[in-house]
Amino acid sequence: MKRPPIDMRAAWNRTSATYQELHQIPVDSAHYGPWAPDENHLRLLGEVRGKRILEPGCGGGQCSIAFALQGATATGVDLSDEQLAFARNLAAKSGAAVDFYQGDAADLSRFAGASFDIVFSAYALAYVEDITSCLSEAARVLIPGGLLVFSLDHPFRDCFWDEENDEESLTPARSYFLRDASEWQFSTSGEWMRSFHRTIGDWTDLLREAGFQVQRILEPEPVLTPEEENSWAESYDLETARLIPQTIIFVATRGA
Ligand SMILES: C[S@@+](CC[C@H](N)C(=O)[O-])C[C@H]1O[C@@H](n2cnc3c(N)ncnc32)[C@H](O)[C@@H]1O
Repeated sequence: MKRPPIDMRAAWNRTSATYQELHQIPVDSAHYGPWAPDENHLRLLGEVRGKRILEPGCGGGQCSIAFALQGATATGVDLSDEQLAFARNLAAKSGAAVDFYQGDAADLSRFAGASFDIVFSAYALAYVEDITSCLSEAARVLIPGGLLVFSLDHPFRDCFWDEENDEESLTPARSYFLRDASEWQFSTSGEWMRSFHRTIGDWTDLLREAGFQVQRILEPEPVLTPEEENSWAESYDLETARLIPQTIIFVATRGA
């Protein structure tokens, strides 16, 4: 039976509670993804105190809250009303002042040009269909020389991920070169989601075309040990993570 088209706003609204309950993402540092070192270790953003930071796909707001607690002026945007309700509540509990807005990362028109020093995003941009608009909007709202830092599931990992069974294997399940929208069920909620596979070459071209200069591409090895708690372990197995990169991080600057 053919499924109805996926409404991503509704899907994330229905996924938010289980996602937040399972992962308990901390607010002491911005994070980059399962098994990856966090921003307090990587320091890709430099000193954030006094910086204006926009976070598209902010989810439950933990990264924006971490930036605010470190002295930045942080603003989060997310498609999901439920993720944002969680974020507003967590910010209040954490004593952090963050502005959160509902919206699509591909449309940042509510923000003036050159109004942010940094655009940061963790594990969200693979969900954005109109990525060309998203990156050109990120370039528009950044000051010249401003920093764009974002993490994703590593595109190579996508090839070893069996969408049907929501698990990784060591046999490729799909071609690295197949660019299509993937539809898969979220492990915590069972909700159908849609994400977009783009190769590393695609991302570097997209960034260049949007006016960015790529400064670094990081493919961090796992930093945690099995003894350390990792609420992502069900979908991101440590043994596999030692063989196949799980997270990729792009660091780019907006041209003058
Ligand atoms: C895997 S979660 C990551 C959230 C957060 N960055 C974190 O690290 O927990 C992906 C988030 O992207 C949001 N999202 C999906 N598509 C989006 C879009 N087109 N524009 C803005 N946010 C989007 C979802 O609502 C969800 O909160």
